[in-house]
Amino acid sequence: MKPNATNAYKIAILAGDAIGPEIMAQAVRVLGLLSKHRDVAFELLEAPFGANAYFTHGKAFPDAAKTACDAADAILKGPVGLSHAESQKIPVAEQAERGAILPLRARYNTFANFRPIYLSKDMAHFSPLKREIIQDGIDILLIRELVGGLYFGEKERGINADGKRYVKEVLEYNEDQVRQVLVVGFEQARLRKGVLHNIHKSNVLMSSVFWNEILDEVHLDFPDIKVIHLLVDAAATALCLNPGQFDVMVMENMFGDILSDQGGGILGSLGLMPSACVGPEKAYYEPSHGSAPDIAGKNIANPYSMIGCVAMMLDMSFGMKAESDAVWAAMKSVFEAGYSTADLSSADSSPKIVSTTEFGDLVMTELERLLALG
Ligand code: IPM
Ligand code: MN
Repeated sequence: MKPNATNAYKIAILAGDAIGPEIMAQAVRVLGLLSKHRDVAFELLEAPFGANAYFTHGKAFPDAAKTACDAADAILKGPVGLSHAESQKIPVAEQAERGAILPLRARYNTFANFRPIYLSKDMAHFSPLKREIIQDGIDILLIRELVGGLYFGEKERGINADGKRYVKEVLEYNEDQVRQVLVVGFEQARLRKGVLHNIHKSNVLMSSVFWNEILDEVHLDFPDIKVIHLLVDAAATALCLNPGQFDVMVMENMFGDILSDQGGGILGSLGLMPSACVGPEKAYYEPSHGSAPDIAGKNIANPYSMIGCVAMMLDMSFGMKAESDAVWAAMKSVFEAGYSTADLSSADSSPKIVSTTEFGDLVMTELERLLALG
């Protein structure tokens, strides 16, 4: 969406489960600061969503959440899901992934998932990769198709003619679905370095042969973009050995799910990965990581990715690029000053470990300073 004339935005807040509410609380502080220092108003529509929503409302994606999301200009979603034991108390179809996340993606057709794999120079020590490999940091934009493929295909279980149990799930895409996400990939490549890595598995999968055919067609509209083809398995190796070769990567749903977690791995933590899930009408923003039930309630979770989601939302949904940049700059400055959350500690950097709320305090202090400058 484009910035609106009244500078008033409705945001659905789906705090989610486990560490969700703790990190969401820090992210929401950013919105408070912005309305104080800028001519903008945010109306927050809080709604139940995820595993706890199932226990309190009987559904992982209750009507109250649908109403809030339908009314919202953008959606901010925390991680969902509980421990394995707690999840077992929920019918499979209502477990948070199948019952909440996938239906949310389908409802708003959020076909383009932007997952920045980013480490500034001052955060480079968080990466488990050697300095000579990552040099001045990592800056990759992974674009994942988010509403098609195996995750949304037909599923079937049964007993075959030999009396054996079998399972079948279908990987299906139509040409429009492939084209629309490839266009996003090309557009982003054009905005960045003019190079697009197309990740596929066309040596085996018919779906990748199809994907690549559509890519060749879309490429005709982007003759200025250089396309580099890479098989998904080779891409996994390359991400570790030489991440600097990538700028924008585009791929189908499951490849993107797997490689984006590997992206978190080369950063040093999935806690450093916000993401934007963009559809034709609206986008929702979520950390790429899970709800970490083992550390919930301890005030130690890293709120970077949740705050980063706000930064992405400001830029991508509300056209507030300067303010988005200020949020990133504030977070960077906290790391630059040597602070980090527990998930990021590394022996050689002797970080000053801070809690969730302390990290939030440091970011807000710096952000307020930056916003006051103008
Ligand atoms: C992600 C998650 C989800 C996915 C799950 C929780 C449904 O792993 O956003 O990467 O597989 O897409
Ligand atoms: Mn995933």
